[in-house]
Amino acid sequence: MCGIVGYIGPSEAAPLLLEGLRRLEYRGYDSAGISVCSNGAIDTRKMPGKIADLTQAIGGDLPRGTTGIAHTRWATHGAPNQINAHPHHDCSGDFAVAHNGIIENAGVLRRKLEELGHTLQSETDTEVLAHLIEEAYDDNLEEAVAAALRQVDGTYGIAVVSTRDPEKLVAARNGSPLLLGIGEGNTYFVASDAAAVIEHTRDVVYLDDGDLAVVTRDGFRTVDLRGVPLTKEVSRVSWDLGTIERGGFPHYMLKEIFEQPDSVRDTMRGRLLAEEGSARLGGLSSCLPWQEIEHYNRIVLTACGTSWHAALIGEYMLEEFARIPVETEYASEFRYRDPVLDDRSLVIAISQSGETADTLAAIREARDKGARVASIVNVVGSTIARESDCGVYIHAGPEIGVASTKAFTSQVVALALVTLYLTTGAEETRDEARKVVKALSRLPDQIAQILERNDELRAMAGLYHLNRNFLYLGRGYNFPVALEGALKLKEISYIHAEGYPAAEMKHGPIALIDENMPVVVIAPRGRVYQKILSNIEEVKARGGRVIAITTDGNGELDRLADHIVTVPTTHEMLQPVLTVIPLQLLAYHIAVLRGCNVDQPRNLAKSVTVE
Ligand code: G6P
Repeated sequence: MCGIVGYIGPSEAAPLLLEGLRRLEYRGYDSAGISVCSNGAIDTRKMPGKIADLTQAIGGDLPRGTTGIAHTRWATHGAPNQINAHPHHDCSGDFAVAHNGIIENAGVLRRKLEELGHTLQSETDTEVLAHLIEEAYDDNLEEAVAAALRQVDGTYGIAVVSTRDPEKLVAARNGSPLLLGIGEGNTYFVASDAAAVIEHTRDVVYLDDGDLAVVTRDGFRTVDLRGVPLTKEVSRVSWDLGTIERGGFPHYMLKEIFEQPDSVRDTMRGRLLAEEGSARLGGLSSCLPWQEIEHYNRIVLTACGTSWHAALIGEYMLEEFARIPVETEYASEFRYRDPVLDDRSLVIAISQSGETADTLAAIREARDKGARVASIVNVVGSTIARESDCGVYIHAGPEIGVASTKAFTSQVVALALVTLYLTTGAEETRDEARKVVKALSRLPDQIAQILERNDELRAMAGLYHLNRNFLYLGRGYNFPVALEGALKLKEISYIHAEGYPAAEMKHGPIALIDENMPVVVIAPRGRVYQKILSNIEEVKARGGRVIAITTDGNGELDRLADHIVTVPTTHEMLQPVLTVIPLQLLAYHIAVLRGCNVDQPRNLAKSVTVE
């Protein structure tokens, strides 16, 4: 949610800043801007729209200078127009600020600044920062930034440059991700995410909340807001530029859907214990030895969006195998309702980005209440990963498409691994767990088989892309898949879609069914198959059009469904990893046919760092 890049070094800043922004565009694309500082002036170019629009508008007339900051916006305060675009300036134009987060007391600060004679141009909360820095400035940029931030309530990742102290780039973080990129030959970056700097360096320093970094051409130092020096470690990012390029696919989303045989394999790599019917999870064993699981009387899984759907599947798995009561909570609800937790509660946060503000707040709340906190995260070194007692990285690789696909399947696999790890039951349960391990190892090849049906799904999309509503139904382990299928469709194609537990259809949604309502039913063979068959009959009896997702070799649905897509059979608890793939492809092709921007759907952002 909003992306920031900053640069100081020997090269021209503008091309590097624009390139960095392009790699952060998944974080928001309402407006874009850059500010370059040189010869006693700041040259700022900004406008509503995407980075490509800004780049085109700038053309060959790039701002000149070797120090600068840039921003891509996901609007919170104020419409996404020219004036509200970042970077923002103070009255003198000597300071420029790019900000990700929300200044909660911006209204009070704005009034105070106006009383002091400042004129603010925009409706944003960010602009108050620029004026606070101007007000506090007394010959030293970092001290002015710290003084400004000490007055602020809320969250921020900021990058600041100034003509009055031009050989510096100052960055600070509280609640919004920020890192320093340490390049060769006195090259330094500030960025919301390593994707913006990976082309130049894999050496990064993750800033923590309360950190302020002063970056010059000769190095960097970090202090807290009172100026007390802090020591930071340099980490090495494990992926490279190739990992985040589109590699011949028309969209990141399609590339990421097709990466799933590999991403799921990477989630399991070195972790399956076939003989024991268990999983080796080094990152979990440090704070959560499986032998001590009986200490916990309750597990809470907490997440947002697609990660919440994965969590719901995890709830079903953990209750069935580990036999511990589990609840799945929307992080945004959980954090505000004073949940009952103590040291016998285990809270597991699930997050692709590891930066979602509500999920982060939920784990902080849980920790304050004495619970043990673990996390299942994709982005290594992210805040949620660092603030958990222990965790499991899903190793799905960078996910750029705003609609999550490969992270979802890897999250479900990671939850299956956690389930195996925490399952301590009788020999009978162990036997079943060994079957799960075997089934897990076959998943990558089975996903590859489903991907071969891509053309089939594209053709089906051609029949349905003009429909205005969809219903998705599932039961048991495939109920969360119905939710996820509906979410995929609505977020990228803007078609209204609802996911429902199949039997609940009778309590309302059935009233919507007619010949214009496609109903996607996830109906693999399994314990609840007969039940869902009855639900399909109910839809057909009312003229609905049924797209059934079932398991290979099941001819029984031929007479009932209008369209059938089959997937290989796996262990029932892993079936969602396979049934979701056709739904991802269906949503993708429908969105493409409708001419939608698949990788950057309107109003959405990948990393939601505001509440
Ligand atoms: C946004 C993204 C979703 C994601 C959700 C949670 O809404 O668009 O794809 O599922 O945030 O994000 P997280 O990074 O915590 O999994």
